[in-house]
Amino acid sequence: MGLLRKFFRQTRRPDGFLGKVMLFGMNRSHAGLADWGMQYIPRIKTDQIVDLGCGGGRNAGELLHRYPAAQLTAVDYSALSVRKAREYNQKSIEAGRCRIVLGDVSSLDLDADAFDLATAFETIYFWPGLTKCFGQVARALRPGGIFLIANECDGLDAVGKKFEKIIDGMRCYTAEEIQAELRKAGFSKVKAIHHPSRPWIAVLAKK
Ligand SMILES: C[S@@+](CC[C@H](N)C(=O)[O-])C[C@H]1O[C@@H](n2cnc3c(N)ncnc32)[C@H](O)[C@@H]1O
Repeated sequence: MGLLRKFFRQTRRPDGFLGKVMLFGMNRSHAGLADWGMQYIPRIKTDQIVDLGCGGGRNAGELLHRYPAAQLTAVDYSALSVRKAREYNQKSIEAGRCRIVLGDVSSLDLDADAFDLATAFETIYFWPGLTKCFGQVARALRPGGIFLIANECDGLDAVGKKFEKIIDGMRCYTAEEIQAELRKAGFSKVKAIHHPSRPWIAVLAKK
């Protein structure tokens, strides 16, 4: 397998040296998408946040910055992502505002009805069965809680199609597919926003 292909496969579950490089790169390259998506989060009481598939932890850090009174839990099933996200958010962890835990979105070990806001940036492509995973997110959110998904690929763009071929198990969903899965998982109000000039999508759902 070519080195580039091996490198891109690190997006799915970062590990080893290539995983470290990938996490460093993703913290930088996903910031624009994450910040674009965050602007659509409605104003709600936001005391408890969970960032799912947190990777290197930059977006968790940005959420902590935007919601200075909130506590944040970040979850990832890659031990390396958890380590790097802890390093990135060390100060917030020491301040007691942040915890980063190893866990799989398909069976979340989180309290029910505990979170006001859940986020997932550039990660649902890899989740095993969206209905089941979205059901786990719904369980963790309190009634009225918000789930934000932001993806750089809208399921139709050429780059996304190319990555689907390179990365085993990756699936780029359309906004319509994501919305249908969210409704199946029990979310009530669901809406999608398309970036005006890029294939970026943000999908918001209310429990
Ligand atoms: C492409 S990276 C995105 C990381 C980060 N959200 C960002 O925007 O930079 C995808 C991350 O999701 C994690 N991930 C994928 N499937 C997961 C699952 N089922 N449970 C928990 N984490 C998962 C991977 O380990 C990886 O760290």
